[in-house]
Amino acid sequence: MRLTKKDLLGIQDLSVDEINLILDTAESFIEVSTREIKKVPTLRGKTIINLFMEPSTRTRTSFEIAGKRLGADTVNISATTSSVVKGETLIDMARNLEAMNPDVIVIRHNASGAPHMLAKLVKQSIINAGDGAHEHPTQALLDMMTIKARKGRIAGLRVAIIGDIAHSRVARSNIYGLTRMGAQVTVAGPATMLPRQIEQMGVTVHQHLEEAIKDVDIIMMLRIQTEREQQNIFPSLREYSRCFCLNRKNIRLAKDDALVMHPGPINRGVEIAPDIADGPASVILEQVTNGVAVRMALLYLLTGGKS
Ligand code: CP
Repeated sequence: MRLTKKDLLGIQDLSVDEINLILDTAESFIEVSTREIKKVPTLRGKTIINLFMEPSTRTRTSFEIAGKRLGADTVNISATTSSVVKGETLIDMARNLEAMNPDVIVIRHNASGAPHMLAKLVKQSIINAGDGAHEHPTQALLDMMTIKARKGRIAGLRVAIIGDIAHSRVARSNIYGLTRMGAQVTVAGPATMLPRQIEQMGVTVHQHLEEAIKDVDIIMMLRIQTEREQQNIFPSLREYSRCFCLNRKNIRLAKDDALVMHPGPINRGVEIAPDIADGPASVILEQVTNGVAVRMALLYLLTGGKS
């Protein structure tokens, strides 16, 4: 089976079969990263541009590693080192990058919809690496891969997503993906961090962490996004932590074999206690490892590879 799309813009656009195709392909790429020589010639001659207009550690690095492990040439552009600082628009920049004839452009941007605009503008495949508070599809795919690897399935699992749901593109993509794959999703956070009518996305809503994580299989903690507009939506970090920090006491409410996930970066002691982040239930670094495989799978499938 092939991925017939030109672009990967959001999980909302993906069918169950397409999600399974990406996860199965990613599974087959895991082995490459365990070899002594971590490189295959699959994408030799292809060029991938990583255009990151917002900071990133995991996503940018793993896209670069994914491209290199598949033998592609990868080029990284950041906001501070590009001609954006001289006033160039995103549209002009995209047209200039298109003129250099790359095969894939990976973009992270603080404006929701920026990847969608580029996808209409240029002939290359566009991958959304996070657009504003809208979607972060590759994060949700690596999260689903991690859940499937550990639990053997996604359908029927109970998943709690806790924290700043309103500003979280990770939450939005995971809600689309997990509900489509048959999981039961619960969200919890301060009322000011829960989007209105979030129930319409097919989730159950709680205002207390303790209610949301009771008997769940997966706890997905989210970071307070201090770089986005957060004034007056919670009293203080200490107050937030008192109510919404996952710790050794409240984690006992979840199933004994519950997994703890976090997309990173972590605010230790704010949304997650350090001993939980580093403890036996945590799969946070497995998420990062799987991120390379998921991104290899997407680069491969979008450039014409078959499952
Ligand atoms: N999870 C995630 O997107 O991390 P980065 O911001 O470091 O890429």
